[in-house]
Amino acid sequence: MEQRPFGPLKAEISVIGQGTWNIAHGDRSRAITALRRGLDLGMNHIDTAEMYDGAEALIAEAIAGRRDEAFIVSKVLPSNASRERTRRACESSLAKLKTDRLDCYLLHWRGEHPLEETFRAFEDLKRDGKILSYGVSNFDAGDLQEALAVTGNGKIICNQVLYHLQQRAIEHEVIPWCEKNGVAVVAYSPFGQDRFPAPNSAGGKVLGEIALSHRASPRQVALAFLTRRKSVFAIPKAGRPEHAEDNAAAGKLKLSDDEIVRIDRTFPRGPKRRSLPML
Ligand SMILES: NC(=O)c1ccc[n+]([C@@H]2O[C@H](COP(=O)([O-])OP(=O)(O)OC[C@H]3O[C@@H](n4cnc5c(N)ncnc54)[C@H](OP(=O)(O)O)[C@@H]3O)[C@@H](O)[C@H]2O)c1
Repeated sequence: MEQRPFGPLKAEISVIGQGTWNIAHGDRSRAITALRRGLDLGMNHIDTAEMYDGAEALIAEAIAGRRDEAFIVSKVLPSNASRERTRRACESSLAKLKTDRLDCYLLHWRGEHPLEETFRAFEDLKRDGKILSYGVSNFDAGDLQEALAVTGNGKIICNQVLYHLQQRAIEHEVIPWCEKNGVAVVAYSPFGQDRFPAPNSAGGKVLGEIALSHRASPRQVALAFLTRRKSVFAIPKAGRPEHAEDNAAAGKLKLSDDEIVRIDRTFPRGPKRRSLPML
């Protein structure tokens, strides 16, 4: 599994990580096995959120005895993102995760509370060792610029955003902004949830041909395409161990320039949109 520096952090984070939205709604022991298998294969980045009902408690079981192997990211809901309630939300996440610290804590999306308050809470939590770093999610370039003005350079380590083959809006402004400012980009819903191109669709056939030539799977090709720039990481969610294995193998797949051009033409990034798409 390829590991890369995560924004300004010295820590090396797996280019492919593990999402956990809805993971607690399926077969619980299978999901725990999937997360553990992912860790075995080097997918150390585990993404969760207070919003992901039951996911934090499930992760606690998956990482029992292996906390130091994981880079755990959780998120505060915008409605909880005042200075005082952010602290409480973080403490609740820590209790559910049965850990003493988060490796990174994100504001899930921008809401009613001023950014100053949320980032002040993040700084308090960092000072107390409850979080080791912080970042944002669903921020467009304008939001990022405002956030940077509040925190100063080198504080926001990542921006987690929607990015998959049929949704490439972040390539217009968000990725360039993040690269210029040393912020990691984390691609969520990298398979478009359950809308991954069908094998018999035009796009699915292109992915299938490229996959065949690498003895890889079409999803591995998609993940390799999304993470082709060093600044971008991806966090597919897998509730099944065989899916975790498939996704982990994408961490060593390298596409040629010609293959990247072919995928780019098959799934065009489209025009710039006025607002950043999110789920
Ligand atoms: N910050 C935000 O606002 C935000 C929003 C959405 C998501 N996220 C994060 O991003 C993560 C990923 O996004 P997502 O869960 O929305 O969707 P996703 O990762 O695009 O897709 C998940 C679906 O793909 C299936 N899958 C995974 N690996 C597979 C494989 N190798 N072969 C076949 N099927 C496979 C999963 O099935 P199984 O479960 O059956 O394995 C599941 O049905 C989330 O879990 C969450 O952590 C963040």
